[in-house]
Amino acid sequence: MNFGTRMREKMWFCVWVLFLFGSCCGRFVVEKNSLKVTSPDALKGVYECAIGNFGIPQYGGTMVGFVAYPKSNRKACKSFDEFDISYKSKPGGFPTFLLVDRGDCYFTTKAWNSQKAGAAAIIVVDDKEEPLITMDMPEEDSGRGDILPNISIPSALINQSFGDRLKKSLENGDMVNVNLDWRESLPHPDDRVEYEFWTNSNDECGPKCDGQIDFVKAFKGVAQIMEKKGYTQFTPHYITWYCPEVFTLSKQCKSQCINHGRYCAPDPEQDFSIGYDGRDVVIQNLRQVCLFKVANESGKPWLWWDYVSDFSIRCPMKDKKYTKECAEDVIKSLGVDLKKINDCIGDPEADEDNPILKAEQDAQIGKDSRGDVTILPTLLINNRQYRGKLDKSAVLKAICAGFLEKTEPAVCLTEDIQTNECLENNGGCWRDQVANVTACKDTFRGRLCECPIVNGVKFVGDGYTHCEASGSGRCEINNGGCWKESRDGLSFSACSDNESNGCKCPSGFKGDGVHACEDVNECKEKTACQCRDCRCKNTWGSYECSCRGDLLYMEKHDTCISKNASKEISWSFLWVIFLGLAAAGVGGYAVYKYRIRSYMDSEIRAIMAQYMPLDNQGEAPTNHIHHPDI
Ligand SMILES: *[C@@H]1O[C@H](CO)[C@@H](O)[C@H](O)[C@H]1NC(C)=O
Ligand SMILES: *[C@@H]1O[C@H](CO)[C@@H](O)[C@H](O)[C@H]1NC(C)=O
Ligand SMILES: *[C@@H]1O[C@H](CO)[C@@H](O)[C@H](O)[C@H]1NC(C)=O
Ligand SMILES: *[C@@H]1O[C@H](CO)[C@@H](O)[C@H](O)[C@H]1NC(C)=O
Ligand SMILES: *[C@@H]1O[C@H](CO)[C@@H](O)[C@H](O)[C@H]1NC(C)=O
Repeated sequence: MNFGTRMREKMWFCVWVLFLFGSCCGRFVVEKNSLKVTSPDALKGVYECAIGNFGIPQYGGTMVGFVAYPKSNRKACKSFDEFDISYKSKPGGFPTFLLVDRGDCYFTTKAWNSQKAGAAAIIVVDDKEEPLITMDMPEEDSGRGDILPNISIPSALINQSFGDRLKKSLENGDMVNVNLDWRESLPHPDDRVEYEFWTNSNDECGPKCDGQIDFVKAFKGVAQIMEKKGYTQFTPHYITWYCPEVFTLSKQCKSQCINHGRYCAPDPEQDFSIGYDGRDVVIQNLRQVCLFKVANESGKPWLWWDYVSDFSIRCPMKDKKYTKECAEDVIKSLGVDLKKINDCIGDPEADEDNPILKAEQDAQIGKDSRGDVTILPTLLINNRQYRGKLDKSAVLKAICAGFLEKTEPAVCLTEDIQTNECLENNGGCWRDQVANVTACKDTFRGRLCECPIVNGVKFVGDGYTHCEASGSGRCEINNGGCWKESRDGLSFSACSDNESNGCKCPSGFKGDGVHACEDVNECKEKTACQCRDCRCKNTWGSYECSCRGDLLYMEKHDTCISKNASKEISWSFLWVIFLGLAAAGVGGYAVYKYRIRSYMDSEIRAIMAQYMPLDNQGEAPTNHIHHPDI
């Protein structure tokens, strides 16, 4: 290969790309998150920063830390090891966000050096006053391409004037606390996330292509589960370019385009004389779109993930298997209708539009808040461009952040992305240690304090200081948080299924019903068993009352009566009268009347007065009346 030709082709390539993007409406949207300064007071407020296209932004979450500005190596172009500086936070300390200046080296180099020094995030200060830009990774993979996959801290770019204010404050010795917030970086309007992946079937473009296919393989499982359950609607997309009309008949356009220059892709090796050509890539791309379309029509859109990963494994360019035959074998083994796919691909030689690729080109142009798709690969979540590393858990986190809160699928709450903030101090949430019930829920958004549902019983409360079981069945769980005790085979509980009653000590007990209910000593407190002939004995939760001699205790009326008279309360009173009559003897009516009055004590008289009309109703009741119903 002649170096000169190669250079010329590269030049031509650049001109072409410039032509396509420079002339068209290229609109790139800078995706942002917010940076909230919480101290010092003079700087308090919410500022904007731009999310870098590498590292792992914490979509849906926040990060708290304090800002440090290095004394030397302020551009972070060298390793901080050389300066013997470390920004590792001590246990329990705030993480460090390293403030560095733009310039002299790649953004990725700065991020890598900061990460190695222990910083939890990097904040780059722009070196000129301009609107925020997106920090990207270097185009050519020469040099430090190997560090890209290892950058895991989030990065943010701030403008020069805000950077200067931060620096000034730090110079004054202020502790600058900030909160990086990505919660509003993605729209999250409803319970379904729509996402698109703009990709390419080319597998020989270095780390970028490797990154794409590695991502598809790693994300496939999760993607398919979410798609099958209807949580997401995924659409793959492929960028194509068109050949400027003046070049349509050139050798370059013929080798890179199909349908007479309408749909082109760059040569995989950027060398027209070897290996596969751009047109091979376009046709494979088209086959992948068509596979998606056919699979989607048969209700199985997720087959795209299988096809793309199988194809990359079975038909790689390096083994010279990037062919129609190999692709068709993969399609057949997935059981997708090959004829429909070939109909969809159509004739690449035809001088006419291919409706599928035409639609793909139209979709490249951004609309509303979405910019044009110009970077490959690009992930769009809820119509916003994802920034950051194409890493399984980082992307999952971002997709999860696209659900309306509390509608996210279980996969968003799995170990993969959870941080287990509930382990320490129960995340500051309510907990019932006895029942082993907690309000702490660890999610990708960070921990939530939310009263749980345990075995179908709903807990209600603020989630922080209290949660209470509610509804029927609430007494099943930890006795509804109420007091409960058993002694000698007797059990008492302060819980009732009617939650509006709260915890209430049962009768015979007094207390708050939650922590304690104490036995009421009915004998001492003279609330029962107070009749003259009664003998009172307190028991746990109740009391026993007996009467002297042959007399029987009547609990309801707290009185003792003769044993024979005990069948029925109303009858017993008749018996009392009868006995009275007997005792009165056979004396005259006046004598009887006098005797019965003296026989009956005033209490019985009072009781009887409630039940039957006695003579002398006009008499005022005596002062000894008490209410025996306990
Ligand atoms: C710089 O950023 C701050 C905070 O986001 C903003 O208030 C300010 O207007 C920006 N300045 C310029 C010149 O864009
Ligand atoms: C990046 O990470 C990989 C795997 O963890 C490791 O093997 C490699 O050495 C790392 N690269 C650098 C530059 O640290
Ligand atoms: C896939 O199918 C769904 C439902 O049938 C439809 O709404 C969606 O537009 C289809 N997607 C594409 C890219 O054809
Ligand atoms: C509490 O419940 C969790 C899961 O629900 C379980 O993993 C843990 O072992 C339980 N702890 C105790 C002390 O029972
Ligand atoms: C629960 O108790 C309250 C008053 O204590 C009562 O108004 C309500 O009707 C009861 N509810 C049920 C379902 O019994």
